[in-house]
Amino acid sequence: MVYTVTLNPALDRTLFVDTLALGESSRIRREARYAGGKGVDVSRALVEMDVPTVALGLVGGFDGKEFEGRLLNEGVACDFTRISGEIRTNIVIHGDEGLETALLARGPEVQPVELMNFMDHLEGVNGSGFLVVSGSLPPGLTPAVYGRILSIGRDKGLTTVLDASGEALRTGIRARPDVIKPNRSELAELAGTEPAGPPGILRFCRTIQEEVATILVSLGADGILLVQSGRGLLARPPQVEVKSTVGAGDCAVAGFIAGLARDESPADCLRRAVAAGTAATLTPGTGICCREDIARLLPDITLEEVTA
Ligand SMILES: Nc1ncnc2c1ncn2[C@@H]1O[C@H](COP(=O)(O)OP(=O)(O)OP(=O)(O)O)[C@@H](O)[C@H]1O
Ligand SMILES: [Mg+2]
Repeated sequence: MVYTVTLNPALDRTLFVDTLALGESSRIRREARYAGGKGVDVSRALVEMDVPTVALGLVGGFDGKEFEGRLLNEGVACDFTRISGEIRTNIVIHGDEGLETALLARGPEVQPVELMNFMDHLEGVNGSGFLVVSGSLPPGLTPAVYGRILSIGRDKGLTTVLDASGEALRTGIRARPDVIKPNRSELAELAGTEPAGPPGILRFCRTIQEEVATILVSLGADGILLVQSGRGLLARPPQVEVKSTVGAGDCAVAGFIAGLARDESPADCLRRAVAAGTAATLTPGTGICCREDIARLLPDITLEEVTA
């Protein structure tokens, strides 16, 4: 089982308008709603890859009910902890010529009691497999929470995966997750400088290898560099016509875990991660990869050893 944790999920609303100008009114021609959030996206991608998953996290309010209903409708099993605050709504305004403007909400203030309800719930999880912690923290919670969640997962014998940025990533690493997946800029922030190319990234990753055994550095169109036991392996996707990169990182995480869940070799897990991430770029909008694209891309992912 793959448990995903999304502490700051969102009900995403995309509004389609002809024109948008500040200070002027526009008619909404169509509206689409989605359940959003990074952990939730990992679960949606895992469902597409036939890997059993349960989405955990914090959710509240009437929109929170809609959020869970939408996930269930997509075949994602939910086990969220209810909070009193309303789930946030992110608004994407899709204008003419495909231009998109996003208004991102911070999320509801989470009360300490609600956090403890979630922790108690997590302590009660009874299964083997993986625990994936992804995305931003809502107001009221600090990065220390990620450290605690990862420790609970590790104590349960789950393989722990952290996909976060900034202080949440830095603090989370101290809890020794099994896997992290920073992208280029998240890694640069962690390193305090922009590492020079894959060799530079490998050199930096070696300095945190004692805390994290498996490091996946995603490099957008350049693929993913896997660092394990101080060795670097770079997987590159073929060139594709990108429709939207939203959710690419989440699908890459899901692809890697899907490989691990099938006992594939590290190189094959890496190839699956890149195939799933790149597949996500072929899907416009919500950004979840589809299985046909993953299968088609897999044979075209190239692997090369990286030396520092
Ligand atoms: N332009 C692209 N062309 C081909 N593949 C891409 C492109 N952008 C992303 N990908 C695929 O998606 C994977 C993850 O992308 P990226 O490094 O952008 O993650 P991220 O920044 O964490 O994304 P997210 O915004 O979802 O958090 C890449 O390793 C690659 O396989
Ligand atoms: Mg990311």
